[in-house]
Amino acid sequence: MKPPKRLQSLIEEGLIDTVVRQLMSGKEATVYVVRSGEDTRCAKVYKEATNRSFRQAVDYTENRKVKNTRQARAMAKGTKFGREATEAAWQSAEVDALYRLAAAGVRVPQPYLFLDGVLLMELVTDEHGDAAPRLNDVEFTPVDARRHHATLIAEVVRMLCGAGVVHGDLSEFNILLGADGPVIIDLPQAVDAAGNNHAKRMLLRDVENLRNFFGRFAPELLRSDYGHELWALYERGLLRTETPLTGRFVHKQGPVDVGSVVREIDDARAEDAARRLRAQTG
Ligand SMILES: Nc1ncnc2c1ncn2[C@@H]1O[C@H](COP(=O)(O)OP(=O)(O)O)[C@@H](O)[C@H]1O
Ligand SMILES: [Mg+2]
Repeated sequence: MKPPKRLQSLIEEGLIDTVVRQLMSGKEATVYVVRSGEDTRCAKVYKEATNRSFRQAVDYTENRKVKNTRQARAMAKGTKFGREATEAAWQSAEVDALYRLAAAGVRVPQPYLFLDGVLLMELVTDEHGDAAPRLNDVEFTPVDARRHHATLIAEVVRMLCGAGVVHGDLSEFNILLGADGPVIIDLPQAVDAAGNNHAKRMLLRDVENLRNFFGRFAPELLRSDYGHELWALYERGLLRTETPLTGRFVHKQGPVDVGSVVREIDDARAEDAARRLRAQTG
């Protein structure tokens, strides 16, 4: 196909040779299959900030370190400079997370480079060498559902222990079924597990999404609670990649911490608002 403008500079630099086809155009990015020499790769071209809600990016980046207070103020106010700063933070969050996770041996596409708002990475393929389907587009036997669920729980643990990262948008839409198993993608909202107030809530939701999806094929998974179990271990510094998990967790009965309940509700409300805004503008 005729290469889109945004990929022109990578072609001029000789980083990619040809653009084979457009794979997907999602909320945040358009994804292309490209060729670099002998290799087929994947180029994720981020949309301009104005094409989508940058409000959510602000939510997610609030706890990230920004370089200076002018930038932080502009991001909070939503000026043009602020939007650009937010956009840069959003894209680099995905690239940072991808490099960290790949280095920790998490099942993510190998990143190759990030230039002019384009992330060049490994194309995840199925057994025929075609772009791999999302989990959402695949039916599973109960045995396979249990196996992939276990693999992905282990990957969530590896993300936490090996890289200190919570995905934050893990679901059947952001996991591909590659030839040798599931591969995790789409990380712009990834957060530091240790330094972010939302990390626990995001992790619990990620794990719940896995449970609900695979629970459709293996209903006994619906009774499991890996999220609370592994977060409790992580918080106490006891979680390792080899730690055996049971999927069971006993919730403490005791006086309710009203402050934390209110915080959870506020969090959920802010996130819901961001999500709706994103749906409108996306
Ligand atoms: N490395 C990859 N290999 C194969 N397909 C990919 C890859 N990255 C993205 N895709 C395809 O592009 C789609 C959109 O990518 P994603 O990173 O989820 O962006 P978005 O923010 O638009 O959801 C995915 O659902 C998947 O089908
Ligand atoms: Mg996605």
